[in-house]
Amino acid sequence: MQTVIIEAPAKINLTLDVKGKRSDGYHELETVMHQVNLFDRVTLEPRSSGIEMATNSSSIPLGQENLAYKAALMVLQEYQPGAGVKIFIEKNIPVGAGLAGGSTDAAAVLAGINHLYDCRFSRQQLLKMAAAIGSDVAFCMSGQYYQPRPGELVSRGTTAIARGRGELLESLPTRIIPYILIVKPDFELSTVQVYSELDLKAVEQFPDTRSFLQVWNKGDIINISVYMANVLESVSIRKKPEIGIIKSRLMEMGALNALMSGSGPSVFAIFPDNETASKAYQAFKKEYREVYLLSSYKRGDKNGS
Ligand code: C5P
Repeated sequence: MQTVIIEAPAKINLTLDVKGKRSDGYHELETVMHQVNLFDRVTLEPRSSGIEMATNSSSIPLGQENLAYKAALMVLQEYQPGAGVKIFIEKNIPVGAGLAGGSTDAAAVLAGINHLYDCRFSRQQLLKMAAAIGSDVAFCMSGQYYQPRPGELVSRGTTAIARGRGELLESLPTRIIPYILIVKPDFELSTVQVYSELDLKAVEQFPDTRSFLQVWNKGDIINISVYMANVLESVSIRKKPEIGIIKSRLMEMGALNALMSGSGPSVFAIFPDNETASKAYQAFKKEYREVYLLSSYKRGDKNGS
């Protein structure tokens, strides 16, 4: 049995709508999520017992509070109680950012352990475990995986509309957004707190998800920006006006649109060309540590091998 290295990409929410509060305390969502080419690298090594975790980051926990640890515990328990694994997380995605950094590591651990130990859990079984770990984990694991080289496992990258708590997924056609700029301000926001302060009556702009899907399906990447909106901005911008300022500045710099991702605080912008995107990147890089010029995450060739 050998080491497995898995790429775990971040996501942005191109739309995020909340339909109401559920009796289980969660919110009923309708959100389009899209993976971008900013990714952590998760390395798994077989171990006869126990879960050992290490990372290059000073900002993530290494025990039960880490979703990747929870994922390992769950999948090993289902496979062979007592079996172990060694996990190393090379952290590149900002933490507490609204980019699903923790969820994508958990998804990588589920898919990776299934591969490492040849557990043969079905996709449905893995998606069920993912949903039990966190609302975004199923999406992060829903891309199709392939093996470019022995010892590597790579997702092709995915875009999906998620409903329910976030676990009811419908995948959307692949589209490449070439110029995406992400700015993560130097503070974190608590997802629990943002959702708990959401007042749908105070929301000024809801996404037009139906129109968004029409233009997405047509492959009209420029016009998707018209229909992007995130209802959680109403809470996060009130708590942290800097998010609104970043959005306005990105628009002034020529973005087609700029939106907060998830519950924030990261803001992403879609740019029409490399030149405008690069200028905005240079300008924000002078002020913020965590600024990324990206495109969509897409792996694998056209023939699907
Ligand atoms: O599922 P997860 O642990 O990632 O969710 C974090 C928190 O976000 C939940 O405890 C809840 O407060 C909020 N949430 C929600 N409705 C959702 C997803 C998350 O209220 N659909």
